[in-house]
Amino acid sequence: MKLTHCIVAGLVCAGSAECQSPSGIHAEAGIEQRVEALVGRMTLDEKIGQMSQSTSMSTPLSGAIREEIRRGRWGSFLNAGSPADRAEAQRIARHESRLGIPLLFGRDVIHGYRTIFPIPLGQAASWDPELIGQAARIAASEAAREGIRWAFAPMLDVARDPRWGRIAESPGEDPYLGAAMATAIVRGFQGESLADPSSIAACAKHFAAYGAVEAGRDYNSAWVPEVLLREVYLRAFHAAADAGAASFMTSFNALNGVPASGNALLLATILRGEWKYRGMVVSDYNAIEEMIAHGYAADGADAARKALTAGVDMEMVSTDYFDHLKSLVGRGLADSKHIDDAVHNILRLKFRLGLFDESIPAPAESGVTPESLALARRLAAESAVLLQNKGGLLPLSESLGSLAAIGPLADSPIDQMGTWVMDGRPKDVETPLAALRSQLGEGRVFYAPGLRNSRDASRAGFAAALDAARRADVVVFFLGEEQILSGEARSRAFLNLPGAQDDLVAAIAALGKPMAAVIMAGRPLTFQETAARVNAVLYAFHPGSMGGPALADLLFGRGTPSGKLTATFPRTVGQVPIYYAHLNTGRPAPQDASGIPVGNPAQPEGYTSKYIDADFTPEYPFGYGLSYTRFDYSNLKLSSAFMTRTGTVTVSADIANTGNREGTEIVQLYIRDLVASVAQPVRALKGFRRVPLGPGEKSTVSFTLDAAALAFYNQHNQLVTEPGRFQVWIAPDSAHGVEGEFTLR
Ligand code: GLC
Repeated sequence: MKLTHCIVAGLVCAGSAECQSPSGIHAEAGIEQRVEALVGRMTLDEKIGQMSQSTSMSTPLSGAIREEIRRGRWGSFLNAGSPADRAEAQRIARHESRLGIPLLFGRDVIHGYRTIFPIPLGQAASWDPELIGQAARIAASEAAREGIRWAFAPMLDVARDPRWGRIAESPGEDPYLGAAMATAIVRGFQGESLADPSSIAACAKHFAAYGAVEAGRDYNSAWVPEVLLREVYLRAFHAAADAGAASFMTSFNALNGVPASGNALLLATILRGEWKYRGMVVSDYNAIEEMIAHGYAADGADAARKALTAGVDMEMVSTDYFDHLKSLVGRGLADSKHIDDAVHNILRLKFRLGLFDESIPAPAESGVTPESLALARRLAAESAVLLQNKGGLLPLSESLGSLAAIGPLADSPIDQMGTWVMDGRPKDVETPLAALRSQLGEGRVFYAPGLRNSRDASRAGFAAALDAARRADVVVFFLGEEQILSGEARSRAFLNLPGAQDDLVAAIAALGKPMAAVIMAGRPLTFQETAARVNAVLYAFHPGSMGGPALADLLFGRGTPSGKLTATFPRTVGQVPIYYAHLNTGRPAPQDASGIPVGNPAQPEGYTSKYIDADFTPEYPFGYGLSYTRFDYSNLKLSSAFMTRTGTVTVSADIANTGNREGTEIVQLYIRDLVASVAQPVRALKGFRRVPLGPGEKSTVSFTLDAAALAFYNQHNQLVTEPGRFQVWIAPDSAHGVEGEFTLR
């Protein structure tokens, strides 16, 4: 079976559809004329109203809100109201305001609406853009059914610091994979046409470099050289723009001292200027007003002027636009053309969504379906990563006598769904405990949480847990982080399993039973003690509504784990930031370097880039994940030892399933540019492929690289390709694989 993975200009367009160019955004015939005609009829107050987004919508609608909507005070609401409230608000906007401009309702639909899929860091571990796009499509249709036509997603912040709580929402540490996720989710949300009533506008966020906040502390400063900004932090956003993302959201952080909502380099020079982006830009929540706290704006008027000039079209929640733009224009301190441009961008999106043309949908209630839950189950299974399986404990035999399910996340629907869940219902969640009991029967599953929650430091529940474990043949722990420990404003200074979870495992390990640990978390954690005590570790992130059945399927071998990490797992928090695509440094340390001999005078061999009190390599590298079978890589071949700038080189290798079970291997393509005018990482992901193989099957997997795939940003921030030697790997993860070399002439 020959598989060829086409690399298009260094980015991956998910699915067969051509990537939409930015010009595709406004290609719909007639919209520009309609926008132009409408803007020409609007007063300045009405224009500024369109640029204002509120989160306040009382239920039922208050007289004040009704009057504000009639006056055109708001262009959009976020995370507000019931479906009935939104329908009534839309009726007022369309039929009782002077120009009948519809409202745009936005919401944080981050990883599902009613059907909750794994958190994005988990979804990314599936390396399955096709499935991720299908999940986004389901989320779109569920949200649109309740009047939501704008999702504040995908979150595309490359994250290399697991202390940062928002790594949960991210695709992880790699820009190439982030770009593939971006394209898949944008296309999933927006479908073939935004005018389709089940389509919703995507919003690429947070623009930009929010994942680089210092010390992993949320909202903190990000200092990122422009070459790194472009190389790492912007690539996924560029892919989102290329895929036709209808909107962008500015980030909270200051980038190199300039808050993103006032950052002309990001919004004017790069987004609008270089990328020719014609979508709509919304600030993050209060982010315009927060430029005062940043020390970048003197007051609300200054903040409004700076945000408008930089290119923020709509202000989320704070009211500096409404409070100050009119007077700024009157005093010649703000250019009314910026206001007209902003209103064009906002109205263009509303026209593209068909909001002017459609009859107002009757309020409806969305719900899960067997199809949506089946897809959630499949994506949760593909998102789980098998990190260890000593003695081949997993998969368990269905004929085992009994099983003890122990831990605070065995039966916790809210925690299982993970962060940023507004519309997922606990009643739609099937927990691991419920799934195991329905599979094995109540009498064969003994349950004890052991702890009241993931942070519980008390041992009061240990006795019951020990009792459950004593009665069982096998123990499966369900450990990790409660939902509230990850996401926005949830940075952690430590990465250990919270509370007394390690102690709980240690207490039960004394029984000498076979044990597995399933970890649900919103970030890479450090858990060496627990990993040393159990046979198997299955990392499920926060797996969503159907995490229970998905995990039960994997535990009992009705599925084979295929997930691979998209964020490096450190051995200790002291290593952070740690990521695979690092530079080699002038003194790279040998893999086994760590520590110094006692009483030994300083020796030259110690002067390399390492720690003296810890292993400098990761616990689990980017791209790592085990299977219940084995995949062997061999026979790397290159179509040529040389490549020209206009040519390509095809790299192939044989992947063999040498085990006795079927499995899907995520085959990865990495390169290294050995000499460049800006030193390049020791590895950079440039392709991947999901390869299903039956036991004993072998396939030749090939990737075709073009010069664009080898391009990097030079010291002048130009995307260039330079001649020279390139190493290339076809690999199971970022630390292994079969290797070759070619030369670009
Ligand atoms: C939040 C988040 C952003 C979200 C927005 C609306 O503070 O930063 O991701 O979309 O506000 O809730």
